[in-house]
Amino acid sequence: MDVLSLVKSVRERVGEPLGDALSAVRIVANWRMPLLLAVSKGFVTPVYRAAFLASAAGSGVLGCLAVRPCDLESLAGKLGAAQDKQRLRAWLELGVRLGELDRREGCYRLKSIAARALARAGNDALAAALEEVLRFHVPVLLGGPRMAATGERFSLGDQDGLVIARSTRVIEPMVEAAIDRALDRENAVRLLEVGCGSGVHVRHAARLNPRLSALAIDMQEEVAEAATKNMAEWGLADRVETRQGDLRTLELQPQFDLVTMHNNIYYFAEDERVAALEKARSVLAPGGRILLTTACQGGSIGLDVLSLWFTYADFGGPLPREEELVAQLERAGFTDVQAARLVPGEQFRAFTATNR
Ligand SMILES: C[S@@+](CC[C@H](N)C(=O)[O-])C[C@H]1O[C@@H](n2cnc3c(N)ncnc32)[C@H](O)[C@@H]1O
Repeated sequence: MDVLSLVKSVRERVGEPLGDALSAVRIVANWRMPLLLAVSKGFVTPVYRAAFLASAAGSGVLGCLAVRPCDLESLAGKLGAAQDKQRLRAWLELGVRLGELDRREGCYRLKSIAARALARAGNDALAAALEEVLRFHVPVLLGGPRMAATGERFSLGDQDGLVIARSTRVIEPMVEAAIDRALDRENAVRLLEVGCGSGVHVRHAARLNPRLSALAIDMQEEVAEAATKNMAEWGLADRVETRQGDLRTLELQPQFDLVTMHNNIYYFAEDERVAALEKARSVLAPGGRILLTTACQGGSIGLDVLSLWFTYADFGGPLPREEELVAQLERAGFTDVQAARLVPGEQFRAFTATNR
């Protein structure tokens, strides 16, 4: 029995004869009751709300309801769930019970401030970040001791590259600020972006410099496909080639003026980072530059959990330390290595260096 049902049944029983009322008082006076209520209110309900909202955003329910209130029939049609309307109804009703949705005259609509905010297209990265926390951060916190005992590790397949590509956009302004500082806007630039995700950072660079052309790669097939679609949608397909590719096995001539690596150095194990950076340098023309952005250790609790996830994975490693990454860039043969903090108090850094 959950806490709310327990309290409801106690309330009902208080109206019953004295013996029952006394036993109800005994239950309510039990020291566990306030604790149970506190756990329910402080931990359980927020997790339920977050899970419902992340799913409602990711599945498109919030997007549909942001346009207009919808009945079960039309929502089921839009979500491709026409064959299982009853289970969809049960899920939607939970959203009503949690206070995220409202149902009036048979139509569901957005109710809570959070649901309305996450329904805005501009806040999709926040909704995806919520999903990332629930699907990837929670499992490492839950499974840490067991996995340490059994030797089990997460693999790339445990991540959803498309969710990560959306959620990483929460730090888009910081990456953009780094590109603004590093990009040559006068001359033609040939850019290689490694691990492009959604492709938004290539789009930003292409908008800043109309003479820029790029090759954008991502090692995850579905991510590269989504980036290709985005480039076409953004009218950049003629300037940006997007394809599935892994930096480690890339075979390209030293033809690029700029290599960018945004938010993925921790996808390489610590002892693989120098080799990865050497590989990035090998595709740069003489005098070409690298721009690498990443959160470093010592940031928010969310970044610590991200770092923990990669520590528990069979690839990658913890977030870097600034001085460690500077040394790795130098060992990879780069000169003029600089690390810049973009926001005071933040552990996000932009590293630039030159191919000598
Ligand atoms: C956290 S996401 C960041 C995406 C994008 N750079 C951004 O900042 O929005 C990291 C991406 O790097 C890609 N990646 C990691 N290692 C890679 C490698 N060796 N070669 C190509 N892509 C890689 C992953 O597949 C993933 O899509």
